[in-house]
Amino acid sequence: MIHPAELIERKRNGEELSAEEIADLILGYARGDVPDYQLAAFCMAVYFRGLNAAETYALTDAMIRSGKTLGLGAALGRKVVDKHSTGGVGDKTSIAVGPIVAACGVPVGKMSGRGLGHTGGTLDKLEAIPGFDVNLTTERFVEQLREVGLAIIGQTEDLVPADKQLYGLRDVTATVDIVPLIASSIMSKKIAGGADAIVLDVKVGDGAFMKTIEDARVLAEAMLELGRRAGREVVCLLTDMDQPLGAAVGNALEIVEARDTVRGEGPPDFTELVLDACARMLAFSDLGIDADEGRRRAEAAVGDGSALVFYERWIRAQGGDPDPDVLPVAPVVREVKAPDAGTVTGLGAIRVGVAALHLGAGRRAKGDEIDHAVGVVCRAKRGSQVEAGEVLAEVHARDEAGAEEAAAAVLAAYELGGAPPREHSILLDVVGG
Ligand code: URA
Repeated sequence: MIHPAELIERKRNGEELSAEEIADLILGYARGDVPDYQLAAFCMAVYFRGLNAAETYALTDAMIRSGKTLGLGAALGRKVVDKHSTGGVGDKTSIAVGPIVAACGVPVGKMSGRGLGHTGGTLDKLEAIPGFDVNLTTERFVEQLREVGLAIIGQTEDLVPADKQLYGLRDVTATVDIVPLIASSIMSKKIAGGADAIVLDVKVGDGAFMKTIEDARVLAEAMLELGRRAGREVVCLLTDMDQPLGAAVGNALEIVEARDTVRGEGPPDFTELVLDACARMLAFSDLGIDADEGRRRAEAAVGDGSALVFYERWIRAQGGDPDPDVLPVAPVVREVKAPDAGTVTGLGAIRVGVAALHLGAGRRAKGDEIDHAVGVVCRAKRGSQVEAGEVLAEVHARDEAGAEEAAAAVLAAYELGGAPPREHSILLDVVGG
């Protein structure tokens, strides 16, 4: 018999809780025996007092035990590799990585999420494709993995239900951005989803949860430790989210860009991240190759068209039409032009993300409808030299008023200066592996 008030008080006072106590609290919450208000108080105590590595693992393990788990490796008779990004602006990485890795002979079965706020979600992007179904049963998910080698679906209801409840609660109690809660939320879903090895992409910067590389490293280490304790291989990429990833921000626009990248026509920063993530997933796979060879095979799959064949096969298998011409298009396209000549020294990811959100590309609240056609295409990125009057970006809007407002917001996201910024790769660091 647990006494939630006592556990809250002890955590509030900075004491360590045992694995059993944490499990009782979380499983009691998942059953409905512990009310929201007590879990909210517990999360706030954790926010200020933290959880040590053993407590964070106990929380992750309890969340996994709140529902079913998938044994993808056993079902396929293969080692299964997954990837996960902590979310950012213009992040369509999974949609390009999936078909490239599958074309290299490694099955990719992913459960993805929806966007909230200025960060987009893979499921929303995929639903821009007419007919695409993200709600496959677990049986169909595994069957498609066997037949096609690739499936991306929404998280099933019975996988880590405690996280679903807890995330909703954290979202409205200012307890989202705290490392042990983020790490356990992400890793519980990855571990329950059945992957043997996981490539994590922690976004760093203005458009991400983690604003500094130091904070991103702390989150990366916490997730690596959870992976180690659960017997999973994990590597964590720390990647730049100070400007949007690639050019496109908005659901159908991002599908076009992901498909372009799969056939070798993607923007340089996005292509670099996709190929790096593919190389590391292939190095973790049962092919027995290292990351250099993984990179060569990923590049070959893009170059010889086999990744595009897998992309089309996958989209059709989930009921969608892979032809980019059938994607929804916005009726109004407005160009945003440079007021002066200069070098783009900054392009605020969050400003572009919020402009896309206001156009209708994202949700301000859970359950909001998404307009799949709208968004922003950033033609000039950090380091681009532009002339006065040159196009910096395009706004794709539902109407003239929306285009006007978004164009002003996107222009404000651009910083134009004289001296070019010190350039660095999209990949800022790698932790673990
Ligand atoms: N993504 C998740 O799945 N959980 C968090 O807590 C934060 C980001």
